[in-house]
Amino acid sequence: MNKVELGKTGVFVSQASLGCMLMGSVIDRKDSFTALDRFVEIGGDFLDTANCYAWWIGKGEFIGDESETILGQWMKARGNRNRVFLATKVGARLRNPRAIRDGDGNVFWDRVEADREFLAPQVIRRGVEDSLRRLQTDYIDLYYAHIDDRVTPLEETLSTFDALINEGKVRYIGCSNFRTWRLERANQISKTYSGAGFVAIQQQYSYLHPKAGADFGVSVNVDDELLDYLKSNEEVTLLPYSPLLKGIYDDEKKREAYYNWHLFNNDDARARLKVLSGMAKELNISNNQLVLAWLFHHQPRTIPILGFSSLDQLDHNLKALDVSLSEEQMSILNKTSA
Ligand SMILES: NC(=O)c1ccc[n+]([C@@H]2O[C@H](COP(=O)([O-])OP(=O)(O)OC[C@H]3O[C@@H](n4cnc5c(N)ncnc54)[C@H](OP(=O)(O)O)[C@@H]3O)[C@@H](O)[C@H]2O)c1
Repeated sequence: MNKVELGKTGVFVSQASLGCMLMGSVIDRKDSFTALDRFVEIGGDFLDTANCYAWWIGKGEFIGDESETILGQWMKARGNRNRVFLATKVGARLRNPRAIRDGDGNVFWDRVEADREFLAPQVIRRGVEDSLRRLQTDYIDLYYAHIDDRVTPLEETLSTFDALINEGKVRYIGCSNFRTWRLERANQISKTYSGAGFVAIQQQYSYLHPKAGADFGVSVNVDDELLDYLKSNEEVTLLPYSPLLKGIYDDEKKREAYYNWHLFNNDDARARLKVLSGMAKELNISNNQLVLAWLFHHQPRTIPILGFSSLDQLDHNLKALDVSLSEEQMSILNKTSA
């Protein structure tokens, strides 16, 4: 797997990041270890988790510690902590994940946003110690603000992150689900006191465009503003999450069942799906693989975070690394619209 620079840090990481969100919940310990082993065997080193993965799975068995815990166990078993580039996140964890369900284990989704921890200094301070303990390490390579917090002043969040860097607990910081103006404001604030700025932004991004005004709640989809910003700000790298929109590209039934499909389903999506399917057929690959290959060839460059719920899916998705797209093919994919 090729290595690419993260922002302008001088640090090179694998061109794909492994999405570890479902490890320890949907994906059991054995398959999680196998997935991690396979990823590093082919040269991957960039792992993505968070301090809340994945509390929402199941009927109350999980609280959000599970993915970090599995990663900590795997790194300890393999003795490879300093050979992986470990990213985790703070801010989206629930204050009380056990109280967010009814007696049958169903989530009260209307209460979730009010229960999030967000980015106050004491949350970050406690969050980093808990993550370090679960991950069985004394440093995090990339620490993200998981969702934007419009109440805590950015100065307080940033100075706390900066202190963690100075203490050696964190190497770099990133943000996720931030609007472009908030990323820019944060990095300007950091500059004024010569503190660390965000070197990565993690947003939802895939081949289909959401409808104008689509509301994803706390999640933020990449938009033209961010792409334009990144062209002129190479110190920040884009990490697309949910690159396959939960795996909808080859399966119409899955598409119809996808909880956000109504936010994409229009003539533009149909036009793009048609062109995507035609090209995937010519290349003898799946639509899902072509979407990932498109992200690997994307400008401004991106490091997609590969999601999977089984080892077969992971193997299938990793094959996208071998797909070569010409400038003409990229141009056809990019220019397609209704
Ligand atoms: N920063 C954030 O707010 C945020 C949010 C979400 C995720 N993330 C990160 O991004 C990573 C990836 O996100 P994601 O899981 O949402 O990614 P995704 O690529 O959109 O979805 C992954 C899901 O798609 C299905 N899938 C994957 N490969 C497939 C294939 N080849 N064929 C058919 N179906 C396939 C599986 O679901 P089924 O089980 O239904 O088959 C799998 O769980 C996560 O692990 C996490 O690290 C970050």
